[in-house]
Amino acid sequence: MSYYQTHRENFLEGLKTFLRIPSISTLPENKPDIRKAAEFVRDDLKAAGLHSAELIEGQGNPLVYAEWLGAPGKPTLLFYGHYDVQPPDPLEEWKSPPFEPTVRGEDIFARGASDDKGQVYILMKAVEGFLKTGGRLPVNVKFLIEGEEEVGGEHISAYVASKPARIKADAAVVSDTEMFAPGLPTLCVGLRGIVYLELEVQGAGHDLHSGVYGGAAPNPIQAIAEILCALKDRDGHILIPGFYDRVRPPSPEERAAWARLPFDEEEYKRKEMEVGELTGEPEIPLFERLWARPTLEVHGIRGGFTGEGAKTVIPARATAKISMRLVADQTPDEALARFKAAVSEATPKGVTVQVKLIHGAAPSLVDPTNPFIKSSAEAMGEVFGKETVYIRSGGSIPIVGLFDQHLGMPSVLMGFGLPDDNLHAPNEKFHLPNFYLGIEAAARYLERLGR
Ligand code: BES
Ligand code: ZN
Repeated sequence: MSYYQTHRENFLEGLKTFLRIPSISTLPENKPDIRKAAEFVRDDLKAAGLHSAELIEGQGNPLVYAEWLGAPGKPTLLFYGHYDVQPPDPLEEWKSPPFEPTVRGEDIFARGASDDKGQVYILMKAVEGFLKTGGRLPVNVKFLIEGEEEVGGEHISAYVASKPARIKADAAVVSDTEMFAPGLPTLCVGLRGIVYLELEVQGAGHDLHSGVYGGAAPNPIQAIAEILCALKDRDGHILIPGFYDRVRPPSPEERAAWARLPFDEEEYKRKEMEVGELTGEPEIPLFERLWARPTLEVHGIRGGFTGEGAKTVIPARATAKISMRLVADQTPDEALARFKAAVSEATPKGVTVQVKLIHGAAPSLVDPTNPFIKSSAEAMGEVFGKETVYIRSGGSIPIVGLFDQHLGMPSVLMGFGLPDDNLHAPNEKFHLPNFYLGIEAAARYLERLGR
């Protein structure tokens, strides 16, 4: 039995300790937990035998860096992941508390189990296995683990853009995506970008009685609704002029490969999403809508009276949180500029609108023929006993575009999450067989690259 098979219990215990730290990046009250999680990663990497494991302090949450560079002439990989998590609410919907990791059946339930602590830990344990058994790695490895991916990754972006020589590598390895289906090894070769913004709408100078002033007063919530309807039609077409100009359609081969993926749309609707109907551009196939088309979504509208009972008021102001997912070759700057122009065109009279950017990230595409991708597909295929499929994902990992743009470094997105892992939702889980096999696949990958 290999180290990886004999140490499964240790791996699980270590993961639980990591998951108990509520490292929620968007909430100021969790700052101490952010630091605890960063220190956990640093200390674990140090104990595994990596060199110069340290926190990189700057503005924002600490980055964790560690390296092992004892294989001259061999490739160098940069392992990336994030130790921060999304807020756990709504708490009452969790079957076990979000920060008390609980194993039920073959799954471990906790916030961050799949996104991304369980997956970062895969990379950490793969490296540990080599160092603990043979004292060396087949290739050179650097770790760069961040603590604000879930809030846009601003500081790691600035760090990577400053191009420190120490993080340059031949390829980045990122485990923060999903397998297409249980048991099906999957490489993700495209991510959407994002522009996240807030619309601040101001009507009257103060709240007004809706009987006394209704009929003459502007209503900011109505204005938000009108603006939203002017930005996207009922078929999901975004109406912002020029918005689709730079959208690069998938190649015929990629489209054909997506059409061959094993997929049951009924089950996807009923079980995974619990919806009656899918929406979006009717003339575009589902995977293309999810992976290769931009979106515009409203996440929340705040304003007016939302308590129990009734209050007859015309609110003076309202805000909406909106994001656009972008695909190659759209850019966040251009999408934002076009959005602002379309909003000002759509703003009804009597209100003023301010658009505030919260964060933005470019989309990214990976060349699936690059040798680092091929070895990864082979390694995963061997461990999972099936041929690896190539998909894209609709989600965003802000730093991946920058690895490419600033460091000329391709990313290998070898993820081990599952479609029903409940990312960002109650009862997030990670499938333990994927955890253990993921560690073996990552190890097998290093071994292959070292040959
Ligand atoms: N791990 C996800 C992204 C993801 C999910 C990729 C599923 C592929 C499949 C990541 O942690 C995430 O949620 N990112 C945010 C980024 C945003 C806040 C800038 C996202 O996509 O919403
Ligand atoms: Zn993630």
